Amino acid sequence: MNIDQLVEAGRVHRRVYLDPDIFDLELKKLFSVAWIYVGHESQVPNPGDYYCTEIACQPVIMTRNVDNSIHVLFNRCGHRGAKVVSDESGNSDIFTCCYHGWSYSNDGKLIAVPQPRGYEKNSVKIGDPAFGMAVVPRFESYRGFVFASLSPTGPSLNKFLGSITKSFDDLIDRAPGGDIVVQGGVARHLYRGNWKLIFENLCDGLHPNCVHKSSIEAAENQDDSVFSDGAGEIGVRQMRQNGVPWSFWEESVGLWAFPYGHSYLGDYHDDEKLIIERKNPFFKAYYSALKKAKGKNKAEKILSIARWNTNVFPTISFMSQFRQLRVIRPLSVDKTEVLGFCFRLKGAPEAMFHDTIRFANITNAVASPVLTDDLETYDRIRRGLEAQGNDWISTGRGMGKDTEEERGVLRAENGLSELHIRNMFNVWLSYLSK
Ligand code: FES
Ligand code: FE2
Repeated sequence: MNIDQLVEAGRVHRRVYLDPDIFDLELKKLFSVAWIYVGHESQVPNPGDYYCTEIACQPVIMTRNVDNSIHVLFNRCGHRGAKVVSDESGNSDIFTCCYHGWSYSNDGKLIAVPQPRGYEKNSVKIGDPAFGMAVVPRFESYRGFVFASLSPTGPSLNKFLGSITKSFDDLIDRAPGGDIVVQGGVARHLYRGNWKLIFENLCDGLHPNCVHKSSIEAAENQDDSVFSDGAGEIGVRQMRQNGVPWSFWEESVGLWAFPYGHSYLGDYHDDEKLIIERKNPFFKAYYSALKKAKGKNKAEKILSIARWNTNVFPTISFMSQFRQLRVIRPLSVDKTEVLGFCFRLKGAPEAMFHDTIRFANITNAVASPVLTDDLETYDRIRRGLEAQGNDWISTGRGMGKDTEEERGVLRAENGLSELHIRNMFNVWLSYLSK
């Protein structure tokens, strides 16, 4: 079967989630070509700081050099190929390979080898890029969010992101101090299922009322008086929000799809329920800091944007108003790792960051009563798709009802549409069939 026979209008073949050969093709033609999220610049704030991650299952390292410049390198020794840096993050002005002691500077240059005379005939030279930790072909940052591409050619990061950058702006502009920093560690988990499932799920408005029923009911039965100090309110609010009726998702929630496979789900911010955050005890102090920094009109404008989940295909999903970002890391066709990060808004009250961490525990950490429902669902999808009898998965909800809001940007009929899934697979197919 040809790859282009796997995606049709309103349906995809089950092989796209199950076939290891397709996963290999995704690594080669999608993850080795598209702009892949590496990390946030605040994860390497000082010279010598580094952060290790992966692109297309290959180890890479983001470093801050002595001259303050940021670099993204393959985490591979120029000698016989060992992974050089094994800690996930840290600080060192020199990277020394564990195997034979070759050493590198923060920009990947080979700076020392033991017993150099032995390499004379092999023309190993200090500083020669051929023996360094190679620099990835391209890396760029959008307002502190660092992306890299293993392809030397292709669209710029700006073109790739297009107007989905407004979601990043929404996150950053909420900081009274004008900047954000990653803090609070990592909420990490693994699920048994294909990596594309999470991109489908995070903008899926139809599922919360089914999948998250138990936490919705528990939250609805919770007595509000226990939140008098603000603690726990954000989690219960999120669970209650999951339980708004489907008619609300149809009338007040929107879904937008962008070129290169991105999407976001958000509300039309006209419902009091969704701006309940203004009732938080810290909100007054936050609002006055934001107003002082930006002026009243700008502050109101910033807060009126209500983008919930923004998917930047194929590696991240983030929630600007809750200051959360998830990195989706494909490990194999049926295994995916997810890393959750929190952002601190510079200039915001300390209590707001505590709220951010609480929200992460509710939604992104393994003890979350919400996340566990989604993980169980991915596992059931993986199992269910192994069944014969129907090779096709339906993705047609809301089809034919999309409108083009700006060039290339589609707005779905409502927040219960599967537009983002159809959009993702159209883009997926264009990468894989090249
Ligand atoms: Fe790294 Fe030999 S493999 S020094
Ligand atoms: Fe969910």
